[in-house]
Amino acid sequence: MTAFTIDDVTIPDNISATDAKDFIDAVEVGNTVEATGYGTTDLNYEPVEELPRFHDPHQPSRMLVARLGGRIVGRGIYETQAGDQADSAWIIAEVLPEFRRQGIGTALSDTLEAIAASEGKKKALVFTPLPSLSPHQLPSPTGFGSVDADHADTKFLLSRGYRLEQIERASRLTLPVDGLAALVADAERRSGAEYLTHCWVGRTPERWLEGIAHLSTRMSTDAPTAGLEEPEDVWTVERVVEADDRHERLNPRTYVVAAVEHLPSARLVGFTVLSVPPQVGRAADQYATLVVREHRGHRLGMLLKVANLAHLERVAPGHPSVITFNAEENRHMLDVNEAVGFVPIASESAWRKDLG
Ligand SMILES: CC(C)(COP(=O)(O)OP(=O)(O)OC[C@H]1O[C@@H](n2cnc3c(N)ncnc32)[C@H](O)[C@@H]1OP(=O)(O)O)[C@@H](O)C(=O)NCCC(=O)NCCS
Repeated sequence: MTAFTIDDVTIPDNISATDAKDFIDAVEVGNTVEATGYGTTDLNYEPVEELPRFHDPHQPSRMLVARLGGRIVGRGIYETQAGDQADSAWIIAEVLPEFRRQGIGTALSDTLEAIAASEGKKKALVFTPLPSLSPHQLPSPTGFGSVDADHADTKFLLSRGYRLEQIERASRLTLPVDGLAALVADAERRSGAEYLTHCWVGRTPERWLEGIAHLSTRMSTDAPTAGLEEPEDVWTVERVVEADDRHERLNPRTYVVAAVEHLPSARLVGFTVLSVPPQVGRAADQYATLVVREHRGHRLGMLLKVANLAHLERVAPGHPSVITFNAEENRHMLDVNEAVGFVPIASESAWRKDLG
């Protein structure tokens, strides 16, 4: 058996840089593995779309590769947060199917966990697609969802000391949505006169910088994360501006945003973001959706979702679908998505290993 090696990939300044080849190959290995796992290429990101997050100082990230005979056959991603609260590392090891059972996944995971331990992280978190339909299931401790207990990835993670914490459902909405204008009108009526929707594309308008910083921070604490105990991720106005700058400079995707203002307080109380690829034939990706706890129960989740889908039709029509992820126990959000027409397409499992 030829020996493989593990090393860190140089993060290029841009995707046409002369040193970008390894980064591009590593993204493609990840896309191949993930398309198999999710059963669709809709979730694949092009290398140019993946690069910006590796340049985000608030989310320090590394890309490792496993090489065999000069070819990249596996990759690992290490991601953490800047700041004192950052006790977690998000990691993933991915090996091309034809190169499995040779110890490559173990070597990548060992290296990723060693980086986390050397940086003093308390836990490693892994998100990976796993089928749930099987005769032998491992249930999620949340009580919602399960994974195939006999699957290679389940065995791999259990043998390394990870425990299953949560199941997320991936769902697809086929576009265009029938009767969308009526859904928006109905949602506006039900939410009442105290709430007003604002929509924009790309950069956060000056007026809403503080509101978006607040909502982005709340996104890290108010979405259900079960036993993963993901830490608070603090956003400031400066960070929002910096992220918008980086996005404009490096990312070909377009952010299509809807936010809802509570008129009596003149504050934003919810937002939702669609990340839209430049090619009209590709699916849009649903990013964050949040209604702050104090304003739940006014149907603002539905209002945001349908208002932004109508916004998408106005500013970037023609995409075939939207893909979204939701925790299986997040019934409120699933109810909204199911009512709009999202259907389940895959399951993602979330795992935790305490380090040290
Ligand atoms: C999980 C994954 C990284 C494993 O890669 P790999 O190179 O095959 O892993 P290894 O060869 O180091 O396997 C290590 C151990 O995992 C377990 N394992 C892996 N595949 C298995 C299978 N098909 N059946 C049973 N056990 C299996 C075994 O205990 C194995 O040790 P052994 O070969 O000595 O019996 C790979 O299957 C993959 O890319 N999956 C998709 C991404 C993913 O789920 N990553 C999670 C890890 S962070």
